[in-house]
Amino acid sequence: EKGGYDYFMLKEIAEQPKAVADTLLGRIDGAGSLTLDEVRISASELREVDKVVIVACGTAFHAGLIAKYAIEHWTRIPCEVELASEFRYRDPILDQQTLVIAISQSGETMDTLMALRHAREQGARVLAICNTNGSTIPRESDAVLYTHAGPEVAVASTKAFLTQLVACYLVALYLGQVRGTKWGDEIHAVIRDLAHIGGDVERVLETMEPVRQLARSLAHKNTVLFLGRHVGYPVALEGALKLKELAYMHAEGFAAGELKHGPIALIEDDLPVVVVVPSPRGRSVLHDKIVSNMQEIRARGARTIVIAEEGDEAVVPYADHLIRIPATPTLLQPLVATVPLQVFACELATARGNEVDQPRNLAKSVTVE
Ligand code: M6R
Repeated sequence: EKGGYDYFMLKEIAEQPKAVADTLLGRIDGAGSLTLDEVRISASELREVDKVVIVACGTAFHAGLIAKYAIEHWTRIPCEVELASEFRYRDPILDQQTLVIAISQSGETMDTLMALRHAREQGARVLAICNTNGSTIPRESDAVLYTHAGPEVAVASTKAFLTQLVACYLVALYLGQVRGTKWGDEIHAVIRDLAHIGGDVERVLETMEPVRQLARSLAHKNTVLFLGRHVGYPVALEGALKLKELAYMHAEGFAAGELKHGPIALIEDDLPVVVVVPSPRGRSVLHDKIVSNMQEIRARGARTIVIAEEGDEAVVPYADHLIRIPATPTLLQPLVATVPLQVFACELATARGNEVDQPRNLAKSVTVE
């Protein structure tokens, strides 16, 4: 049942702090290390992995794009991410040392299932990240790491996405832990931060009223663009997907660095552009670059909707609307930065009179190729 909410989607957005905490439960030990014994691929096998390939569709694909940054950074293993529907038709290069990660909320997505079957035929090992116990994808995989989001009813994925991210971080950190990389200290620090991230998601949810107001004021618009860099780029793609699905608006996500290679031609007066700003701490060069991207689009009339860390004052002069998120380690930022975009899309859909939980033409689980 909807538990007092108008839509399942609203309920599922609100459940995210718990979904995140439940997905971490029992997987971090008292000493701050990961215990993923349930992943029945031994530490010695994981040490031999020389390539990771992630296959998924839709929102789960966006989780995979974010996972790539985490896996390559913490493990130094090359990682590819591919839409499951494209993967097997291009004759991908796979062998016993390839770890394929199939991400799926439902565990029944046919494109993802066919991709993992193809991977296993080539001798690769497949680890499923899945939210549905006993569904086909985990049954056909070598190992599974379940997300504990609970049942997701709304067609637009929200809490499943956040838990997919958590599972991806766990896999990346675990691979780093068993293989021993130079990032040992950072891995420990991030595990500690991850243990508290549910509280950060909760804080974001408490401050969403201005986002809802803003969404209602934009209900008459035709187009919204989304920009991000680094892990903020897949967040931008996810924000755009939510808006297409729910509000039936033209929405596109771009890597901010690509602007000058074409998309900047789309900027016109009062066009809403959502900008996901990386932390000014850590990789600050990314932050400086996105600030100049904001200057460029604003000079051409864009109305900027800026998602930035608390305390980041450098963005203030370039933000028509400012949405604050808690400071997190750079790689974890998608867990907090995605939430306002979900709320934004849900509210816009409502304002446009659309059916939030059952958008037109879409099914919760796509069991045809
Ligand atoms: O069940 P899956 O995670 O395999 O589903 C994949 C996509 O169909 C799904 O994420 C879809 O893009 C959602 N409707 C997005 O909100």
